[in-house]
Amino acid sequence: MKDLAGKHIVLGLTGGIACYKAAELCRALIKDGATVQVVMTDAAQQFITPITMQALSNRPVAGSQWDASEPNNMAHINLSREADAVLIAPCSADFMAKLAQGRADDLLSLLCLARPLDKVPLLLAPAMNREMWAHPATQRNAAQLQADGATVLAVGGGDQACGETGDGRMLEPQELLEDLVAFFQPKLLAGHHVLVTAGPTYEAIDPVRGITNLSSGKMGFAVARAAREAGAQVTLVAGPVHLPTPRGVRRIDVKSAADMLTATVNVAEDATVFVATAAVADWRPAQTAEQKIKKDGSGQPPMLEFVENPDILATIAQSPRAQAAELFCVGFAAESEDLLANSQAKRLRKGVPLLVGNIGPATFGQDDNALLLVREVGVESLARAPKLELARELIAACARQIRAKA
Ligand code: CTP
Repeated sequence: MKDLAGKHIVLGLTGGIACYKAAELCRALIKDGATVQVVMTDAAQQFITPITMQALSNRPVAGSQWDASEPNNMAHINLSREADAVLIAPCSADFMAKLAQGRADDLLSLLCLARPLDKVPLLLAPAMNREMWAHPATQRNAAQLQADGATVLAVGGGDQACGETGDGRMLEPQELLEDLVAFFQPKLLAGHHVLVTAGPTYEAIDPVRGITNLSSGKMGFAVARAAREAGAQVTLVAGPVHLPTPRGVRRIDVKSAADMLTATVNVAEDATVFVATAAVADWRPAQTAEQKIKKDGSGQPPMLEFVENPDILATIAQSPRAQAAELFCVGFAAESEDLLANSQAKRLRKGVPLLVGNIGPATFGQDDNALLLVREVGVESLARAPKLELARELIAACARQIRAKA
C-alpha cells in the first residue's frame, strides 16, 4: 500500500545539521509512492550536497532562481504549480523568520510565497537548537506562519548536535512521513474524541503465569492511527503488546480486563466514538496467588477456578451517553465460523449500532484482514486488505453513520 501514490512533493532543505535526515526522508517519500523535487538553499548545501539529493530523488536539485535552464526562467512558478505539497525539512529558525515576513530572496522562499495558497499546502519541520526554538521570536514566527495557513509540525526532544538537551530537533524521517500521509487524509472526524481498546488482556494466575490470547493489537492500533489521521483526538487503551504508538495518539497501557474497564470507563466520559477492538479475556482466575504456585509432588495439577470478566463494550454501550447517542459505539467480533449470523447476534447482544465481524484465526498477528460491517439495516463487506486501509474505511463508515444519525 503506497500512501503517497500520485503525490508530487517539493522537498525544501534549509541550513541545519538535520539535512542529513532529509536524505532518508526523501527516500521514504519515494518508497511510499511520491515523486519528489528537491529544492535546497545555499545554507543547506553547506550540510549535504545536491548530488546526494539528486541521486535519491532521481531529479536535478533546484537551487537558484537565476538558473536559466527553465525555458520560461520562472522556476518558482513552475515548481509551485506542480506540487501537491511543499514540505520544508529541515526548516531553520532563519527560514521561518523569512517566511513569516513574506520575504523571497532565494528560490525556496520565493516559491513558498508564489504558491497558490488554496491549492498547495506548506508544511514546515522546524530544526534548531532548543534556545532558538524556545525564543519568543521563533514562537511568534511559528504562530504567524500557522495563521497564514502553513502547518508547523512538531519538534522532537532529546540530545542535540550542539551537545545540549531539549526541544527543537527535527522529527525523524518516519515520523515526518506519517505526518505527511496523515495530512492528506480527509478530516472526517475533526472535533471528535475517539476511544479505542486494543490487544489482548493478561489475567494473572500468580506472579509468573497468566492466561492471555493471540491478539496482536494491530487492528486496534491501525484504527487509532486512522482516527487520528481523520482529525480526531484519540485515546488508545492497549493491552500488553509491543507495538509503537501511532503519532499524536494518547496511549494508556493496561494488563487485565479489570484495568481495561477502569481506564475505558474514565475516558469514555468525554469520548464521542468508542471502538472496541480488544480481545478481552472472557474469564480470569478467581484468585491470583501472591507467590508462584509450586508443584506439590503429588502429580496433581492445582485446581483453578475462574470468574467471568466484565463486558467492557456492553458496559459502555449501556451508559447514558451511549444510549443518548452522544457516544457512538462500535464492537468487533472475532469468530471462527458463521460470521454473518454470529455478528448479527453479537450486535444485538452488545447493543451497538455497528458491529465489525472478522474471522479471528485468519487475522490474528497478520498485517491484513477482511471485515464485515453489520448494522441494524444492511451489511457491508470490506475485502481483504492491509489493516490500516481497512481501518481508514471503517473510520469513514463510522463518520457516515454518525452524520446520518445527526
Ligand atoms: N468485549 C469487551 N469485553 C469483554 C469481552 C468482549 O469489551 N469482556 C468486546 C470486544 O472488544 C469486542 C466485542 O466485545 O468488541 C466482542 O468480543 P468477542 O470476544 O468476539 O465476543 P464475546 O463477547 O467474548 O463473545 P463470545 O466469546 O461468546 O463470542
